[in-house]
Amino acid sequence: MSNQSVVPTAYEPKNMKFRYLGNTGLQVSLFSLGGWLTYGGTQKGDIVKECLKTAWEHGIQTFDTAEIYSNGACEIEMGRALKELGWPRDEYVLTTKIFFGTGRKEPNTRGLSRKHIVEGLKSSLQRLQTPYVDIVFAHRPDPATPMLEIVEAFTQVIRNLNLAYYWGTSEWSAAQITEAIQLAEKHNLIAPVVEQPQYNAFHRERFEVEYAPLFKQYGYGTTIWSPLASGLLTGKYNDGIPEGSRFATNKAFFENTIKELQTPQGQAKIEKVRKLTKIAEKLGASVTHLALAWAAKNPNVSTVILGATKPEQIVDNLKALELLDKLTPEVLAEIEEVLDNKPKPVNTFGRDR
Ligand SMILES: NC(=O)c1ccc[n+]([C@@H]2O[C@H](COP(=O)([O-])OP(=O)(O)OC[C@H]3O[C@@H](n4cnc5c(N)ncnc54)[C@H](OP(=O)(O)O)[C@@H]3O)[C@@H](O)[C@H]2O)c1
Repeated sequence: MSNQSVVPTAYEPKNMKFRYLGNTGLQVSLFSLGGWLTYGGTQKGDIVKECLKTAWEHGIQTFDTAEIYSNGACEIEMGRALKELGWPRDEYVLTTKIFFGTGRKEPNTRGLSRKHIVEGLKSSLQRLQTPYVDIVFAHRPDPATPMLEIVEAFTQVIRNLNLAYYWGTSEWSAAQITEAIQLAEKHNLIAPVVEQPQYNAFHRERFEVEYAPLFKQYGYGTTIWSPLASGLLTGKYNDGIPEGSRFATNKAFFENTIKELQTPQGQAKIEKVRKLTKIAEKLGASVTHLALAWAAKNPNVSTVILGATKPEQIVDNLKALELLDKLTPEVLAEIEEVLDNKPKPVNTFGRDR
């Protein structure tokens, strides 16, 4: 057979694991890479391409951005890097998020009106230099826009305009997500299939309790953010704020977080990081690997979105893959004891199944 008929392939999964995005047929790498504060923010140019390339070479095929990240510069930087890397478009999953706009003042350049969902996504695609994204997220709920208009607009971008294959929500309440799904079912529209929530060892309540019915009833997928609590769970902030770290380079944004670190609650978190470090060391790993593997271990997580300012962080973080099997029920119980923050499930009055 001639080689000419062979479809070119660039992707090699290595030891990456994959999960279905909730109840859809789309597979995402268990770890993915996002560009909040980093690409187009503190990191510009070749370093962005290096990070994406390193991720890809270690089996990451899912990438996340948003119109608001660095006021559009993140999409520009990631789009340019993707173009230069030239991977076949059907070999990677690209997601963006619409809601916050790009910092412009005109009122219709943000929110979830039909106008901004369509125009915002078209502008994102231009910056990303791609005809479609695989998933478009509503980056926040919009109480000012009727839910039917929102569901209709996302249906339109998928069904009529071919600008995306799936749509999702980000930091919506379970009630808002349920309303959107039920409206879609009633009006023969396309329902959202995935939520992008914060989830890490210090931020659990909504994911583990409020969303539980969504996982059970709808098989709702999740792409979780800040799995390292912006770096806190790497131990890098145990003894202050290192130069060049996220809290140093984005001081104003993290003002409250930085202040909290000085309080008894903040110090208690640092103490937990120290104790988790000891558990990790017994397993031949670091607390970073442990925090990431802990999040990935939750079966309701479709993909853990990593953030990284340097390629070395990506390589390091993916060592979490090797730790997954070592997080036995006994080790998880040990971690639970240290965290001491397991949210209480909703009372089912003995009627759980
Ligand atoms: N939907 C939403 O509302 C929302 C909100 C936030 C984020 N997100 C998405 O989720 C992605 C990930 O969130 P995140 O960036 O906050 O994740 P994170 O994993 O909690 O924090 C990532 C940051 O921690 C530091 N870091 C990472 N690995 C490290 C390592 N091995 N050693 C030392 N430091 C390390 C790096 O910052 P420094 O090197 O600068 O210290 C890196 O940029 C974002 O890029 C974005 O795509 C979504």
